[in-house]
Amino acid sequence: MNVRVQNLRKYFETSAGVLKVIDNANLTVEKGDFIAIMGSSGCGKSTLLFLLGCIDVPTFGSIYLDNVEVTEADESTREKIRLYNIGFVFQNYNLLPTLTVLENIILPMQLGDTFKGQREARALALLRVVGLEDKRDDKPTNLSGGQQQRIAIARALANKPGLLLADEPTGNLDAKTSRELMQVLRSINETQEVTLVMVTHDPKSASVANRIFYLENGQLRGTLV
Ligand SMILES: Nc1ncnc2c1ncn2[C@@H]1O[C@H](COP(=O)(O)OP(=O)(O)O)[C@@H](O)[C@H]1O
Ligand SMILES: [Mg+2]
Repeated sequence: MNVRVQNLRKYFETSAGVLKVIDNANLTVEKGDFIAIMGSSGCGKSTLLFLLGCIDVPTFGSIYLDNVEVTEADESTREKIRLYNIGFVFQNYNLLPTLTVLENIILPMQLGDTFKGQREARALALLRVVGLEDKRDDKPTNLSGGQQQRIAIARALANKPGLLLADEPTGNLDAKTSRELMQVLRSINETQEVTLVMVTHDPKSASVANRIFYLENGQLRGTLV
């Protein structure tokens, strides 16, 4: 999926006045690219991802996903885009503790269009992609942070999204586990035909991407890695 952001603004009304978190940001990401967005805490990285992920709407400006303007689409269209076209990975994994690893990965498929008889096989294939086939029947709480994040990545890919958004995916992991997780994201980007937009404040994690952008004063500035 390709992503185009044009003159994007997101303002919040606060007791202290208007907070211009995203203030005329522009960005183009080609299909299959892997970009990292860096910036200090509170600069608006999560806000930007929520806008890209059709979770929140901008104050002004446009977001095109595969050349379709999504910010003005109605809520049921945006819901479908979230379900079928976008995978989300969070810093805190957000796995459901009462479900097994396999059930966590199957869950989004129950809302999507994978036939019932194919869901388990697809979940197992995704577990192979993240290297955790042997954990299929474990509960997430029995796994390490790095393993839980791999499961969260597998779940995010359940409905074959064209765009994977990752918000500080290594934020809770040590340096070695972060390196391993970034290799998983790298290989997914190379083998699963998915465009990857990752937000991080860790330069080592960011360096695995093809390009790094900096979010500062509400605007994006790009560099080559
Ligand atoms: N719904 C909201 N209402 C008011 N302020 C918000 C809201 N969401 C985020 N903010 C503010 O916007 C700024 C950017 O937040 P965020 O995108 O979470 O930053 P980051 O992910 O880069 O740490 C912060 O100052 C935060 O307090
Ligand atoms: Mg954040």
